[in-house]
Amino acid sequence: MTDTPTITRRDTVVGGIAIAAAASAGRSATAADVMTVMITGSNRGIGLEFVKQYAAKGWAVIATTRSPDKADELKKVASTNKKVVIEQLDVTDNASVDALAAKYKGKPIDLLINNAGITGDFRNPKPQSFGTLDHTQRDDFMHTNALGPLKVTEAFYENVKLGKGKKITAVTSLAGSFGAKFGGGIPGGYWYKISKASLNAAMVNVSMDAKKDGVIVTLLSPGTVRVEKIGNVQMPGLIEPLESISGMIKVIDGLTMDDAGVIIRYNGERQPV
Ligand SMILES: NC(=O)c1ccc[n+]([C@@H]2O[C@H](COP(=O)([O-])OP(=O)(O)OC[C@H]3O[C@@H](n4cnc5c(N)ncnc54)[C@H](OP(=O)(O)O)[C@@H]3O)[C@@H](O)[C@H]2O)c1
Repeated sequence: MTDTPTITRRDTVVGGIAIAAAASAGRSATAADVMTVMITGSNRGIGLEFVKQYAAKGWAVIATTRSPDKADELKKVASTNKKVVIEQLDVTDNASVDALAAKYKGKPIDLLINNAGITGDFRNPKPQSFGTLDHTQRDDFMHTNALGPLKVTEAFYENVKLGKGKKITAVTSLAGSFGAKFGGGIPGGYWYKISKASLNAAMVNVSMDAKKDGVIVTLLSPGTVRVEKIGNVQMPGLIEPLESISGMIKVIDGLTMDDAGVIIRYNGERQPV
């Protein structure tokens, strides 16, 4: 008979708390106690803030970026936290996705966050406005915002099935929702809106397939977040990354199968698909 304490579901769901629970029970936390999250597009913006906050919670973080050599801020975070590992991943490059999936074959991932995305230059609306649409951009938007996340989700699905958390999410936008009139009926933003609506369709579809495996697939809407590229520009309703990402993490912590295939805003409100 051993006196090894049982790690409860709450311990595993809340990640870093398991380490504290193990410590207070008089034993060291093992690798199995630590939750693992994989985040795409984690070198800046919302993805980088997800890395910082999950690392601070004691999670192991697989922080992916298409250019590790240029990811200075992310490297700084990894240099002070051994549980943050940086991996190269371009979500539009099937070979890049397959290569990373092969490297992680058989390794559990508790949570996959499809965050990487492109919005276009908000100072120059012309390429995404009807009448001046730049059709050379449409493939980039579709591949980065919709088809890439679907490929990543499929490639790492077995890892998530092996994890305790069994959660997959994708960062969408109010601009992708029919029910929210694509961000409140503001015209333009064609490629962004079409690609995010496609992302929603893809993830809702995956959520139906994943239910049988106990994997919760959902979409998160971060609000309008002051990421680096926005700088000091003023926009209505703009919030700081800290607020948006801590809100989304709280939402993720509380996900149940009832949330499969829905869009949840950073403040916990549901957003129509
Ligand atoms: N900020 C907001 O207000 C807001 C609102 C609604 C939704 N969102 C969504 O939130 C997500 C993150 O946005 P953000 O504001 O943090 O944008 P961001 O600051 O522009 O960051 C985008 C991230 O995606 C990465 N990325 C772009 N193309 C990629 C590719 N092919 N493969 C891998 N990574 C790629 C970028 O990497 P590089 O540095 O290499 O380009 C960067 O790390 C996006 O899906 C966006 O649509 C943001």
